[in-house]
Amino acid sequence: MALKKQIQELQKRREEAKMGGGEKAIEKQEAMGKMTARNRILALLDKDSFQEYDMFVQHEARDFDMAKKILHGDGVIIGTGTISGQPVCIFAQDFTVAGGSLGLMHSRKITKIMDHSLKMKVPLIGINDSGGARIQEGVNSLAGYGEIFFRNTLASGVIPQISVILGPCAGGAVYSPALTDFVFVVENISKMFITGPEVIRTVLGEEISMEDLGGARVHSEITGNAHFFAENEPECFEQIKKLLSYIPGNNDRKAIKCCPKPPQSKYRIGEIVPDDPALPYDVRDVVRAVVDDSEFFEIQQLWAANLVIGFGRMNGETCGFVCNQPLVLAGVLDVDSSDKAARFIRYCDAFNIPIITLVDLPGYLPGVDQEHAGVIRHGAKILYAYSEASVPKLTVILRKAYGGGYIAMGSRHLRADFVFAWPTAEVAVMGPEGAANIIFKKEISEAENPDEMRQQKVKEYKEKFANPYVAASKGYIDTVIAPEETRNILLHAIEVSVEKAVSLPRKKHGIPPF
Ligand code: HXC
Repeated sequence: MALKKQIQELQKRREEAKMGGGEKAIEKQEAMGKMTARNRILALLDKDSFQEYDMFVQHEARDFDMAKKILHGDGVIIGTGTISGQPVCIFAQDFTVAGGSLGLMHSRKITKIMDHSLKMKVPLIGINDSGGARIQEGVNSLAGYGEIFFRNTLASGVIPQISVILGPCAGGAVYSPALTDFVFVVENISKMFITGPEVIRTVLGEEISMEDLGGARVHSEITGNAHFFAENEPECFEQIKKLLSYIPGNNDRKAIKCCPKPPQSKYRIGEIVPDDPALPYDVRDVVRAVVDDSEFFEIQQLWAANLVIGFGRMNGETCGFVCNQPLVLAGVLDVDSSDKAARFIRYCDAFNIPIITLVDLPGYLPGVDQEHAGVIRHGAKILYAYSEASVPKLTVILRKAYGGGYIAMGSRHLRADFVFAWPTAEVAVMGPEGAANIIFKKEISEAENPDEMRQQKVKEYKEKFANPYVAASKGYIDTVIAPEETRNILLHAIEVSVEKAVSLPRKKHGIPPF
Protein backbone atom coordinates (compact mmCIF):
# COMPACT_ATOMS: atom_id res chain seq x y z
CA MET A 1 0.00 0.00 0.00
CA ALA A 2 2.81 2.35 0.98
CA LEU A 3 4.56 1.61 -2.30
CA LYS A 4 1.40 2.32 -4.25
CA LYS A 5 1.21 5.75 -2.66
CA GLN A 6 4.88 6.36 -3.28
CA ILE A 7 4.42 5.48 -6.91
CA GLN A 8 1.50 7.86 -7.16
CA GLU A 9 3.70 10.55 -5.66
CA LEU A 10 6.42 9.73 -8.21
CA GLN A 11 3.92 9.97 -11.07
CA LYS A 12 2.68 13.30 -9.76
CA ARG A 13 6.22 14.67 -9.56
CA ARG A 14 6.98 13.41 -13.05
CA GLU A 15 3.86 15.03 -14.48
CA GLU A 16 4.70 18.34 -12.82
CA ALA A 17 8.28 18.26 -14.09
CA LYS A 18 7.09 17.44 -17.58
CA MET A 19 5.02 20.63 -17.62
CA GLY A 20 8.29 22.63 -17.62
CA GLY A 21 7.44 26.31 -17.27
CA GLY A 22 3.70 25.66 -17.24
CA GLU A 23 0.82 25.89 -19.66
CA LYS A 24 1.13 29.58 -20.43
CA ALA A 25 4.84 29.38 -21.25
CA ILE A 26 4.22 26.31 -23.42
CA GLU A 27 1.48 28.17 -25.30
CA LYS A 28 3.88 31.07 -25.85
CA GLN A 29 6.55 28.68 -27.11
CA GLU A 30 4.17 27.00 -29.53
CA ALA A 31 2.77 30.35 -30.71
CA MET A 32 6.31 31.17 -31.86
CA GLY A 33 6.18 28.08 -34.11
CA LYS A 34 8.51 26.19 -31.76
CA MET A 35 8.08 22.71 -30.32
CA THR A 36 8.68 22.18 -26.61
CA ALA A 37 12.03 20.73 -25.54
CA ARG A 38 10.42 17.42 -24.62
CA ASN A 39 8.52 17.10 -27.88
CA ARG A 40 11.69 17.87 -29.80
CA ILE A 41 13.49 14.99 -28.12
CA LEU A 42 10.57 12.64 -28.69
CA ALA A 43 10.34 13.67 -32.36
CA LEU A 44 14.02 13.01 -32.92
CA LEU A 45 14.53 9.75 -31.07
CA ASP A 46 13.15 6.31 -31.89
CA LYS A 47 9.70 5.75 -30.43
CA ASP A 48 9.75 4.86 -26.70
CA SER A 49 13.55 4.94 -26.61
CA PHE A 50 14.05 8.09 -24.51
CA GLN A 51 15.29 7.65 -20.96
CA GLU A 52 15.47 10.86 -18.99
CA TYR A 53 17.86 11.67 -16.12
CA ASP A 54 17.99 14.47 -13.56
CA MET A 55 14.35 15.30 -14.00
CA PHE A 56 14.10 16.44 -10.38
CA VAL A 57 17.21 18.60 -10.32
CA GLN A 58 16.60 22.06 -8.85
CA HIS A 59 18.70 25.20 -8.95
CA GLU A 60 20.45 26.34 -5.81
CA ALA A 61 20.44 30.08 -6.52
CA ARG A 62 19.37 32.32 -3.68
CA ASP A 63 19.95 35.88 -4.92
CA PHE A 64 17.31 38.06 -6.60
CA ASP A 65 14.38 36.15 -5.09
CA MET A 66 15.52 32.96 -6.76
CA ALA A 67 14.97 30.96 -3.54
CA LYS A 68 11.21 31.15 -4.14
CA LYS A 69 11.36 29.94 -7.72
CA ILE A 70 10.89 26.35 -8.75
CA LEU A 71 12.54 25.74 -12.11
CA HIS A 72 11.59 22.25 -13.30
CA GLY A 73 14.65 20.31 -14.38
CA ASP A 74 16.45 23.65 -14.12
CA GLY A 75 15.50 24.44 -17.70
CA VAL A 76 17.12 21.56 -19.52
CA ILE A 77 16.18 17.96 -20.28
CA ILE A 78 18.92 15.35 -20.59
CA GLY A 79 18.88 11.67 -21.43
CA THR A 80 19.79 8.79 -23.69
CA GLY A 81 17.93 7.09 -26.50
CA THR A 82 18.36 5.67 -29.95
CA ILE A 83 18.06 6.99 -33.49
CA SER A 84 17.54 4.29 -36.11
CA GLY A 85 18.62 1.84 -33.43
CA GLN A 86 21.93 3.59 -32.69
CA PRO A 87 22.52 4.97 -29.18
CA VAL A 88 22.82 8.73 -28.63
CA CYS A 89 23.07 11.14 -25.71
CA ILE A 90 20.91 14.22 -25.89
CA PHE A 91 20.08 17.46 -24.09
CA ALA A 92 17.44 20.02 -24.93
CA GLN A 93 17.19 23.41 -23.27
CA ASP A 94 13.65 24.23 -22.19
CA PHE A 95 12.87 27.85 -23.01
CA THR A 96 9.63 27.67 -21.04
CA VAL A 97 11.69 27.45 -17.84
CA ALA A 98 13.44 30.78 -17.15
CA GLY A 99 14.07 31.19 -20.86
CA GLY A 100 16.24 28.07 -20.90
CA SER A 101 18.88 30.24 -19.23
CA LEU A 102 21.99 28.43 -18.08
CA GLY A 103 22.57 28.32 -14.33
CA LEU A 104 24.95 26.09 -12.39
CA MET A 105 22.69 23.02 -12.08
CA HIS A 106 21.52 23.40 -15.67
CA SER A 107 25.15 23.31 -16.79
CA ARG A 108 25.87 20.32 -14.52
CA LYS A 109 23.10 18.39 -16.20
CA ILE A 110 24.57 19.16 -19.61
CA THR A 111 28.09 18.24 -18.56
CA LYS A 112 26.80 15.01 -16.99
CA ILE A 113 25.35 13.86 -20.30
CA MET A 114 28.43 15.09 -22.16
CA ASP A 115 30.68 13.02 -19.85
CA HIS A 116 28.41 10.08 -20.45
CA SER A 117 28.55 10.42 -24.23
CA LEU A 118 32.35 10.60 -24.19
CA LYS A 119 32.67 7.62 -21.83
CA MET A 120 30.18 5.51 -23.76
CA LYS A 121 31.52 6.80 -27.10
CA VAL A 122 28.13 7.66 -28.55
CA PRO A 123 27.09 10.79 -30.49
CA LEU A 124 26.01 13.85 -28.51
CA ILE A 125 23.09 15.97 -29.69
CA GLY A 126 22.49 19.36 -28.05
CA ILE A 127 19.30 21.31 -28.71
CA ASN A 128 19.90 24.97 -27.88
CA ASP A 129 17.03 27.31 -27.01
CA SER A 130 18.18 29.69 -24.33
CA GLY A 131 18.50 33.29 -23.18
CA GLY A 132 22.14 32.53 -22.32
CA ALA A 133 23.90 32.84 -18.97
CA ARG A 134 21.32 32.99 -16.16
CA ILE A 135 21.81 36.53 -15.05
CA GLN A 136 20.81 35.87 -11.41
CA GLU A 137 23.50 33.18 -11.04
CA GLY A 138 26.39 35.39 -12.10
CA VAL A 139 29.78 33.77 -12.34
CA ASN A 140 28.35 30.30 -11.69
CA SER A 141 26.69 30.46 -15.12
CA LEU A 142 29.93 31.53 -16.73
CA ALA A 143 31.69 28.64 -14.99
CA GLY A 144 29.03 26.34 -16.42
CA TYR A 145 29.74 27.48 -19.97
CA GLY A 146 33.46 27.02 -19.47
CA GLU A 147 32.90 23.43 -18.30
CA ILE A 148 30.83 22.77 -21.43
CA PHE A 149 33.40 24.28 -23.82
CA PHE A 150 36.15 22.21 -22.22
CA ARG A 151 34.19 19.00 -22.76
CA ASN A 152 33.28 19.96 -26.34
CA THR A 153 36.99 20.21 -27.01
CA LEU A 154 37.87 16.90 -25.33
CA ALA A 155 35.13 15.11 -27.25
CA SER A 156 36.12 16.66 -30.58
CA GLY A 157 37.22 13.95 -32.99
CA VAL A 158 36.15 11.18 -30.61
CA ILE A 159 32.37 11.27 -30.86
CA PRO A 160 30.17 13.15 -33.31
CA GLN A 161 28.83 16.33 -31.68
CA ILE A 162 25.70 17.83 -33.18
CA SER A 163 24.22 21.21 -32.24
CA VAL A 164 20.67 22.13 -33.10
CA ILE A 165 19.80 25.81 -32.73
CA LEU A 166 16.07 26.03 -32.09
CA GLY A 167 15.70 29.43 -30.51
CA PRO A 168 18.05 32.08 -29.21
CA CYS A 169 21.67 31.11 -28.67
CA ALA A 170 23.23 34.33 -27.51
CA GLY A 171 26.46 35.64 -26.07
CA GLY A 172 29.18 33.18 -25.17
CA ALA A 173 26.60 30.40 -25.48
CA VAL A 174 27.31 30.27 -29.21
CA TYR A 175 30.75 28.87 -28.59
CA SER A 176 29.56 25.43 -27.63
CA PRO A 177 27.86 24.91 -31.02
CA ALA A 178 30.88 26.48 -32.70
CA LEU A 179 33.10 23.83 -31.10
CA THR A 180 30.88 20.98 -32.31
CA ASP A 181 30.97 19.21 -35.66
CA PHE A 182 27.63 20.04 -37.23
CA VAL A 183 25.24 22.92 -36.56
CA PHE A 184 21.60 22.69 -37.67
CA VAL A 185 19.41 25.79 -38.02
CA VAL A 186 15.74 26.39 -38.84
CA GLU A 187 14.30 29.36 -40.69
CA ASN A 188 12.72 32.05 -38.45
CA ILE A 189 13.55 30.06 -35.30
CA SER A 190 17.34 29.96 -34.92
CA LYS A 191 19.14 33.08 -33.68
CA MET A 192 22.86 33.09 -32.97
CA PHE A 193 24.96 36.09 -32.08
CA ILE A 194 27.62 37.24 -29.65
CA THR A 195 26.19 40.71 -29.06
CA GLY A 196 22.48 41.20 -29.65
CA PRO A 197 20.57 44.05 -31.30
CA GLU A 198 20.29 45.91 -27.95
CA VAL A 199 24.05 46.05 -27.52
CA ILE A 200 24.56 47.03 -31.14
CA ARG A 201 22.03 49.85 -30.76
CA THR A 202 23.68 51.09 -27.56
CA VAL A 203 27.29 50.82 -28.63
CA LEU A 204 27.10 51.51 -32.36
CA GLY A 205 23.78 53.32 -32.69
CA GLU A 206 22.72 50.89 -35.41
CA GLU A 207 19.32 49.22 -35.71
CA ILE A 208 19.21 45.60 -36.80
CA SER A 209 16.71 42.81 -36.27
CA MET A 210 17.72 39.53 -34.62
CA GLU A 211 16.94 37.75 -37.88
CA ASP A 212 19.20 39.98 -39.98
CA LEU A 213 21.93 39.85 -37.36
CA GLY A 214 22.10 36.11 -36.78
CA GLY A 215 19.13 34.26 -38.24
CA ALA A 216 19.22 30.86 -39.91
CA ARG A 217 19.93 32.24 -43.38
CA VAL A 218 22.72 34.50 -42.14
CA HIS A 219 24.57 31.52 -40.65
CA SER A 220 23.85 29.24 -43.60
CA GLU A 221 24.79 31.68 -46.37
CA ILE A 222 27.13 34.31 -44.95
CA THR A 223 29.05 33.16 -41.87
CA GLY A 224 29.24 29.43 -42.56
CA ASN A 225 28.54 28.71 -38.87
CA ALA A 226 25.62 26.46 -39.81
CA HIS A 227 25.94 23.24 -41.78
CA PHE A 228 22.29 22.38 -42.39
CA PHE A 229 19.35 24.71 -43.06
CA ALA A 230 15.75 23.56 -42.68
CA GLU A 231 12.45 25.32 -43.13
CA ASN A 232 10.86 23.78 -40.04
CA GLU A 233 11.71 21.60 -37.07
CA PRO A 234 10.47 18.24 -38.46
CA GLU A 235 12.60 18.77 -41.58
CA CYS A 236 15.57 19.57 -39.34
CA PHE A 237 15.09 16.31 -37.38
CA GLU A 238 14.99 14.32 -40.62
CA GLN A 239 18.29 15.93 -41.64
CA ILE A 240 19.86 14.94 -38.30
CA LYS A 241 18.72 11.33 -38.70
CA LYS A 242 20.11 11.24 -42.21
CA LEU A 243 23.45 12.66 -41.12
CA LEU A 244 23.74 10.05 -38.37
CA SER A 245 23.11 7.30 -40.94
CA TYR A 246 26.29 8.40 -42.78
CA ILE A 247 28.72 8.71 -39.88
CA PRO A 248 30.13 6.28 -37.32
CA GLY A 249 29.13 6.52 -33.65
CA ASN A 250 32.74 7.19 -32.64
CA ASN A 251 36.27 7.40 -33.97
CA ASP A 252 37.06 3.71 -33.34
CA ARG A 253 34.43 2.65 -35.83
CA LYS A 254 33.59 2.92 -39.46
CA ALA A 255 30.19 4.15 -40.61
CA ILE A 256 27.66 1.35 -40.81
CA LYS A 257 27.63 -0.14 -44.31
CA CYS A 258 24.32 0.20 -46.02
CA CYS A 259 22.58 -1.40 -48.95
CA PRO A 260 24.87 -1.07 -52.02
CA LYS A 261 23.00 0.25 -55.05
CA PRO A 262 24.18 1.40 -58.47
CA PRO A 263 23.77 5.08 -59.43
CA GLN A 264 20.55 6.04 -61.21
CA SER A 265 20.82 5.71 -64.98
CA LYS A 266 19.62 9.27 -65.62
CA TYR A 267 23.03 10.63 -64.57
CA ARG A 268 25.21 10.06 -67.63
CA ILE A 269 28.68 10.76 -66.47
CA GLY A 270 30.15 11.20 -69.95
CA GLU A 271 27.70 13.98 -70.80
CA ILE A 272 28.04 16.28 -67.81
CA VAL A 273 31.25 18.19 -68.51
CA PRO A 274 30.83 20.47 -71.58
CA ASP A 275 33.32 20.25 -74.45
CA ASP A 276 34.12 23.95 -74.11
CA PRO A 277 36.39 24.29 -71.03
CA ALA A 278 35.00 27.78 -70.44
CA LEU A 279 31.48 26.47 -69.82
CA PRO A 280 30.26 25.58 -66.34
CA TYR A 281 28.44 22.47 -65.09
CA ASP A 282 27.16 21.20 -61.78
CA VAL A 283 29.81 18.98 -60.19
CA ARG A 284 27.13 17.46 -57.95
CA ASP A 285 25.83 15.66 -61.06
CA VAL A 286 29.24 13.99 -61.37
CA VAL A 287 29.00 12.91 -57.71
CA ARG A 288 25.46 11.63 -58.30
CA ALA A 289 26.69 9.70 -61.33
CA VAL A 290 29.18 7.75 -59.19
CA VAL A 291 27.53 7.25 -55.77
CA ASP A 292 25.06 4.58 -54.72
CA ASP A 293 21.53 5.37 -55.83
CA SER A 294 22.80 8.84 -56.89
CA GLU A 295 22.19 9.99 -53.32
CA PHE A 296 24.47 12.85 -52.29
CA PHE A 297 24.03 14.37 -48.82
CA GLU A 298 25.44 17.86 -49.14
CA ILE A 299 26.83 19.84 -46.19
CA GLN A 300 26.96 23.66 -46.03
CA GLN A 301 25.10 23.80 -49.31
CA LEU A 302 24.39 27.53 -49.12
CA TRP A 303 27.83 28.77 -48.07
CA ALA A 304 31.02 29.01 -50.15
CA ALA A 305 29.18 27.26 -52.96
CA ASN A 306 32.27 27.33 -55.21
CA LEU A 307 33.27 24.20 -53.30
CA VAL A 308 30.94 21.30 -52.61
CA ILE A 309 31.29 18.91 -49.67
CA GLY A 310 29.12 16.06 -48.48
CA PHE A 311 28.64 12.34 -48.06
CA GLY A 312 27.75 9.67 -50.56
CA ARG A 313 28.05 5.89 -50.44
CA MET A 314 30.23 3.72 -52.64
CA ASN A 315 28.98 0.13 -52.57
CA GLY A 316 27.43 0.88 -49.20
CA GLU A 317 30.48 2.55 -47.66
CA THR A 318 30.29 6.23 -46.65
CA CYS A 319 32.76 8.47 -48.47
CA GLY A 320 33.35 12.20 -48.06
CA PHE A 321 33.35 14.20 -51.30
CA VAL A 322 35.33 17.42 -51.74
CA CYS A 323 34.69 19.00 -55.13
CA ASN A 324 35.32 22.25 -56.92
CA GLN A 325 32.04 23.62 -58.28
CA PRO A 326 32.54 25.16 -61.76
CA LEU A 327 29.00 26.55 -61.53
CA VAL A 328 30.08 29.15 -58.94
CA LEU A 329 33.11 31.42 -59.49
CA ALA A 330 34.48 28.76 -61.86
CA GLY A 331 35.18 26.61 -58.79
CA VAL A 332 38.08 28.73 -57.49
CA LEU A 333 39.49 28.29 -54.02
CA ASP A 334 39.13 31.30 -51.76
CA VAL A 335 39.13 32.05 -48.04
CA ASP A 336 35.74 30.52 -47.26
CA SER A 337 35.94 27.49 -49.55
CA SER A 338 39.39 26.69 -48.12
CA ASP A 339 37.98 26.72 -44.59
CA LYS A 340 35.02 24.64 -45.72
CA ALA A 341 37.17 21.98 -47.37
CA ALA A 342 39.83 21.82 -44.66
CA ARG A 343 37.39 21.30 -41.81
CA PHE A 344 35.49 18.61 -43.69
CA ILE A 345 38.69 16.77 -44.63
CA ARG A 346 39.66 16.74 -40.95
CA TYR A 347 36.20 15.47 -40.01
CA CYS A 348 36.44 12.59 -42.48
CA ASP A 349 39.94 11.79 -41.31
CA ALA A 350 38.94 11.75 -37.64
CA PHE A 351 36.01 9.41 -38.31
CA ASN A 352 37.57 6.91 -40.74
CA ILE A 353 35.72 8.12 -43.83
CA PRO A 354 37.61 7.84 -47.16
CA ILE A 355 37.91 11.13 -49.06
CA ILE A 356 37.12 11.43 -52.75
CA THR A 357 38.22 14.69 -54.38
CA LEU A 358 36.88 15.88 -57.73
CA VAL A 359 39.07 18.57 -59.24
CA ASP A 360 38.16 21.32 -61.70
CA LEU A 361 39.49 24.75 -60.76
CA PRO A 362 41.47 27.59 -62.27
CA GLY A 363 43.36 28.14 -58.97
CA TYR A 364 43.04 30.47 -56.00
CA LEU A 365 40.84 33.56 -56.44
CA PRO A 366 43.00 36.61 -57.21
CA GLY A 367 42.28 40.05 -55.74
CA VAL A 368 43.06 42.53 -52.98
CA ASP A 369 39.97 41.46 -50.99
CA GLN A 370 41.13 37.87 -50.85
CA GLU A 371 44.74 38.74 -50.09
CA HIS A 372 43.68 41.04 -47.27
CA ALA A 373 41.16 38.51 -45.97
CA GLY A 374 44.07 36.13 -45.47
CA VAL A 375 43.85 33.75 -48.42
CA ILE A 376 47.42 32.68 -47.68
CA ARG A 377 46.57 31.54 -44.15
CA HIS A 378 43.17 30.09 -45.06
CA GLY A 379 44.39 28.48 -48.27
CA ALA A 380 47.13 26.75 -46.29
CA LYS A 381 44.50 24.94 -44.25
CA ILE A 382 43.61 22.71 -47.20
CA LEU A 383 47.25 21.77 -47.75
CA TYR A 384 47.55 20.95 -44.07
CA ALA A 385 44.32 18.96 -43.90
CA TYR A 386 45.06 16.81 -46.95
CA SER A 387 48.68 16.22 -45.97
CA GLU A 388 47.76 15.16 -42.46
CA ALA A 389 44.77 12.97 -43.37
CA SER A 390 45.57 9.28 -43.20
CA VAL A 391 42.27 7.83 -44.44
CA PRO A 392 42.19 6.60 -48.06
CA LYS A 393 42.44 9.64 -50.34
CA LEU A 394 41.27 9.27 -53.94
CA THR A 395 41.38 12.10 -56.46
CA VAL A 396 39.85 12.46 -59.89
CA ILE A 397 40.88 15.41 -62.07
CA LEU A 398 37.91 16.16 -64.30
CA ARG A 399 39.11 19.23 -66.14
CA LYS A 400 41.24 22.16 -64.95
CA ALA A 401 43.90 21.64 -62.30
CA TYR A 402 45.94 24.79 -62.46
CA GLY A 403 48.70 26.09 -60.26
CA GLY A 404 48.32 25.97 -56.48
CA GLY A 405 44.83 24.59 -57.03
CA TYR A 406 46.32 21.44 -58.57
CA ILE A 407 48.52 20.87 -55.55
CA ALA A 408 45.86 21.77 -52.98
CA MET A 409 43.06 19.59 -54.28
CA GLY A 410 44.21 16.22 -53.04
CA SER A 411 47.26 15.89 -55.28
CA ARG A 412 49.74 13.02 -55.23
CA HIS A 413 52.21 15.41 -53.61
CA LEU A 414 49.97 15.72 -50.52
CA ARG A 415 49.85 11.92 -50.48
CA ALA A 416 46.68 11.07 -52.32
CA ASP A 417 46.70 7.27 -52.60
CA PHE A 418 45.26 7.22 -56.09
CA VAL A 419 45.03 10.04 -58.62
CA PHE A 420 42.96 9.51 -61.73
CA ALA A 421 42.32 11.95 -64.56
CA TRP A 422 39.79 12.18 -67.33
CA PRO A 423 41.11 12.81 -70.87
CA THR A 424 39.65 16.33 -70.51
CA ALA A 425 42.03 17.10 -67.63
CA GLU A 426 44.40 20.06 -68.00
CA VAL A 427 47.22 19.97 -65.47
CA ALA A 428 49.36 23.08 -65.79
CA VAL A 429 50.88 25.97 -63.91
CA MET A 430 48.15 28.26 -65.21
CA GLY A 431 45.45 28.50 -67.89
CA PRO A 432 46.59 28.47 -71.54
CA GLU A 433 45.61 32.11 -72.22
CA GLY A 434 47.49 33.52 -69.25
CA ALA A 435 50.47 31.26 -69.82
CA ALA A 436 50.78 32.11 -73.54
CA ASN A 437 50.55 35.84 -72.80
CA ILE A 438 53.50 35.56 -70.43
CA ILE A 439 55.89 33.11 -72.05
CA PHE A 440 55.29 34.26 -75.65
CA LYS A 441 54.96 37.96 -74.79
CA LYS A 442 57.75 38.97 -77.11
CA GLU A 443 56.58 36.89 -80.09
CA ILE A 444 53.01 38.13 -79.67
CA SER A 445 53.92 41.82 -79.38
CA GLU A 446 56.33 41.67 -82.31
CA ALA A 447 54.01 39.73 -84.61
CA GLU A 448 52.37 41.40 -87.57
CA ASN A 449 49.03 40.18 -86.28
CA PRO A 450 49.36 39.85 -82.48
CA ASP A 451 45.86 38.36 -82.02
CA GLU A 452 46.49 35.62 -84.53
CA MET A 453 49.88 34.92 -82.98
CA ARG A 454 48.30 34.78 -79.51
CA GLN A 455 45.71 32.24 -80.70
CA GLN A 456 48.44 30.13 -82.26
CA LYS A 457 50.56 30.21 -79.11
CA VAL A 458 47.58 29.37 -76.89
CA LYS A 459 46.91 26.37 -79.14
CA GLU A 460 50.54 25.32 -78.95
CA TYR A 461 50.54 25.60 -75.17
CA LYS A 462 47.30 23.64 -74.89
CA GLU A 463 48.62 20.82 -77.01
CA LYS A 464 51.83 20.63 -75.06
CA PHE A 465 50.70 21.15 -71.49
CA ALA A 466 46.92 21.43 -71.08
CA ASN A 467 46.26 17.69 -70.95
CA PRO A 468 46.68 14.89 -68.42
CA TYR A 469 49.53 13.11 -70.19
CA VAL A 470 52.46 15.24 -69.03
CA ALA A 471 51.47 14.62 -65.38
CA ALA A 472 50.72 10.95 -66.20
CA SER A 473 54.17 10.55 -67.81
CA LYS A 474 55.75 11.50 -64.49
CA GLY A 475 53.53 9.25 -62.42
CA TYR A 476 51.75 12.15 -60.73
CA ILE A 477 48.55 10.77 -62.20
CA ASP A 478 48.17 7.00 -61.85
CA THR A 479 45.99 6.48 -64.84
CA VAL A 480 43.88 8.37 -67.36
CA ILE A 481 40.35 7.01 -67.44
CA ALA A 482 37.16 7.51 -69.44
CA PRO A 483 34.42 9.18 -67.36
CA GLU A 484 32.37 5.97 -67.55
CA GLU A 485 35.18 4.09 -65.77
CA THR A 486 35.14 6.42 -62.75
CA ARG A 487 32.83 4.55 -60.37
CA ASN A 488 34.44 1.19 -60.91
CA ILE A 489 37.97 2.45 -60.50
CA LEU A 490 37.00 4.34 -57.32
CA LEU A 491 35.30 1.22 -55.94
CA HIS A 492 38.45 -0.74 -56.70
CA ALA A 493 40.63 1.90 -55.02
CA ILE A 494 38.45 1.86 -51.90
CA GLU A 495 38.51 -1.92 -51.80
CA VAL A 496 42.28 -2.14 -51.94
CA SER A 497 42.70 0.65 -49.36
CA VAL A 498 40.64 -0.95 -46.59
CA GLU A 499 43.67 -1.77 -44.46
CA LYS A 500 45.54 1.46 -45.22
CA ALA A 501 48.00 2.31 -42.47
CA VAL A 502 50.41 5.24 -42.48
CA SER A 503 52.36 6.66 -39.61
CA LEU A 504 53.08 10.34 -39.15
CA PRO A 505 56.06 11.72 -37.20
CA ARG A 506 55.58 11.46 -33.45
CA LYS A 507 54.36 14.76 -31.98
CA LYS A 508 51.94 16.11 -29.41
CA HIS A 509 50.00 17.82 -32.17
CA GLY A 510 50.74 19.97 -35.20
CA ILE A 511 50.19 23.70 -35.50
CA PRO A 512 47.65 24.05 -38.30
CA PRO A 513 47.11 27.53 -39.78
CA PHE A 514 43.88 27.99 -37.77
C1 HXC B 1 17.70 34.77 -16.68
C2 HXC B 1 16.30 34.91 -18.49
C3 HXC B 1 17.40 35.10 -19.35
C4 HXC B 1 18.69 35.11 -18.78
C5 HXC B 1 15.61 35.11 -20.54
N1 HXC B 1 15.22 34.95 -19.27
N2 HXC B 1 16.94 35.22 -20.61
N3 HXC B 1 16.45 34.75 -17.18
N4 HXC B 1 18.79 34.94 -17.44
N5 HXC B 1 19.78 35.26 -19.51
C6 HXC B 1 13.88 34.77 -18.77
C7 HXC B 1 13.07 36.05 -18.84
O1 HXC B 1 13.31 36.82 -17.69
C8 HXC B 1 11.67 35.50 -18.87
O2 HXC B 1 11.32 35.11 -17.56
C9 HXC B 1 11.81 34.26 -19.69
O3 HXC B 1 13.18 33.90 -19.64
C10 HXC B 1 11.45 34.46 -21.14
O4 HXC B 1 12.16 35.58 -21.63
P1 HXC B 1 11.48 36.73 -22.50
O5 HXC B 1 12.43 37.88 -22.52
O6 HXC B 1 10.09 36.97 -21.99
O7 HXC B 1 11.37 36.01 -23.91
P2 HXC B 1 11.48 36.66 -25.34
O8 HXC B 1 10.69 37.92 -25.40
O9 HXC B 1 11.17 35.56 -26.29
O10 HXC B 1 13.02 37.08 -25.50
C11 HXC B 1 14.03 36.08 -25.51
C12 HXC B 1 15.43 36.72 -25.41
C13 HXC B 1 15.46 37.69 -24.21
C14 HXC B 1 15.72 37.48 -26.69
C15 HXC B 1 16.43 35.61 -25.28
O11 HXC B 1 14.96 37.02 -23.07
C16 HXC B 1 16.83 38.16 -23.90
O12 HXC B 1 17.34 39.08 -24.56
N6 HXC B 1 17.42 37.59 -22.86
C17 HXC B 1 18.75 37.95 -22.43
C18 HXC B 1 19.78 37.49 -23.41
C19 HXC B 1 21.15 37.80 -22.91
O13 HXC B 1 21.63 38.91 -23.05
N7 HXC B 1 21.72 36.80 -22.23
C20 HXC B 1 23.00 36.93 -21.60
C21 HXC B 1 23.99 36.76 -22.67
S1 HXC B 1 25.59 36.87 -22.06
P3 HXC B 1 9.83 35.16 -16.98
O14 HXC B 1 10.01 34.78 -15.55
O15 HXC B 1 9.37 36.54 -17.20
O16 HXC B 1 9.08 34.15 -17.80
C22 HXC B 1 26.02 35.33 -21.91
C23 HXC B 1 27.39 35.20 -21.43
C24 HXC B 1 27.81 33.79 -21.60
O17 HXC B 1 25.32 34.43 -22.19
C25 HXC B 1 29.30 33.80 -21.66
C26 HXC B 1 29.79 32.41 -21.74
C27 HXC B 1 31.27 32.41 -22.02
